Amino acid sequence: MKLLVTGGAGFIGSNFVRLILNKYPDYEVINLDALTYAGNLDNLKDVEKNENYRFVHGDIRDEDVVDKVMKGVDAVVNFAAESHVDRSIGGPADFIQTDVYGTFVLLEAARQHGVGRYLQISTDEVYGSIKEGSFVETDRLEPSSPYSASKAGGDMQVMAYHTTYGLPTIITRSSNNFGPYQYPEKIIPLFITNLVEGKKVPLYGDGLNVRDWVYVTDNCEGLDAVLHKGEVGEIYNIGGGNERSNIFITNKILEMLGKGEDMIEPVADRLGHDFRYSIDCSKANALGWTPAHNFEDAIKETVDWYLNNEWWWKKIKSGEFEAYYKSQYDKKA
Ligand code: NAD
Ligand code: DAU
Repeated sequence: MKLLVTGGAGFIGSNFVRLILNKYPDYEVINLDALTYAGNLDNLKDVEKNENYRFVHGDIRDEDVVDKVMKGVDAVVNFAAESHVDRSIGGPADFIQTDVYGTFVLLEAARQHGVGRYLQISTDEVYGSIKEGSFVETDRLEPSSPYSASKAGGDMQVMAYHTTYGLPTIITRSSNNFGPYQYPEKIIPLFITNLVEGKKVPLYGDGLNVRDWVYVTDNCEGLDAVLHKGEVGEIYNIGGGNERSNIFITNKILEMLGKGEDMIEPVADRLGHDFRYSIDCSKANALGWTPAHNFEDAIKETVDWYLNNEWWWKKIKSGEFEAYYKSQYDKKA
């Protein structure tokens, strides 16, 4: 099987590429990634020499590059996206361009090349917030942020390509991932690394908002199950079943790092902040998938990983990393 993974240099994509190369030694993986601020080849250092793996530096919005890498591909897994809600509130344009237009470019190329399976990595945020109960895949989409609206726009196109052209598409909508190689702008790695650096942690609003946390390798196993066993034209929710408030997560990290509540900096709430996400994952469970990690062990593993891998995050937080990639772009321009 020849897989085209887009956005494979990001957090979930890199964990997925590693899982596939280790689990299926006869699969070929092409990783197409634009290396935005969030794309990082350090995430894949341990597999970069694998003879079944090839990295292509390119943008999913670039039809020529996408056409070239799509040749002979059996399946596409699209992780490439602008992924951070706060950045989308500050400037939505890149989100529309990559998450909506970029998805269209991939779908069109997949159609032209007769690709056998197209897996779109979406998010539980497309459903919006829910006070009680859990969303199922047929619920209507009510995205709140420019990020979730752009992801919903991507999903809509995927569904249209299936209905109109019969493209064999599948969509997954996962909950909040955590684990190794997550860019330290998202709450868990931001809070761990801030505390290691002696900085306070900025908690939005009253801290009572709830997210469902799934360990990243559990999500990747779920994606693998859907890719191989999912039904074409369907959507699958993938969640951890670990609903926790932000203040709970914050106190947990403080406790694990031996810090007190004085390190919490209450800050203004996020605009349009969704209160709670919750998804019903029975459909993915019916494929034989359930998360293997419990939350307590996984958060400990995660904290330990950031403590043991300062080489990875220190250069990101110091700005050295973005400066490096910017210089690469400048050289290309
Ligand atoms: P990330 O921000 O860590 O990585 C995104 C990757 O996409 C980066 O490597 C980046 O360089 C690449 N990219 C961005 N724009 C591109 C473009 N135009 N062309 C090619 N590559 C481009 O994101 P993540 O957290 O790993 O999320 C991956 C996917 O999963 C996204 O689609 C996101 O919406 C979805 N998702 C994330 C979560 C989560 O908790 N992180 C949960 C549910 C769904
Ligand atoms: O639900 C899936 C989504 O989870 C993915 O689609 C997104 O790509 C991913 O970024 C994530 O979105 P969230 O907005 O839920 O994640 P974030 O880590 O940004 O925030 C989690 C919660 O923590 C949210 O309620 C806001 C709060 N928060 C976040 C940050 C960065 C804070 O209180 N302080 C912070 O500094």
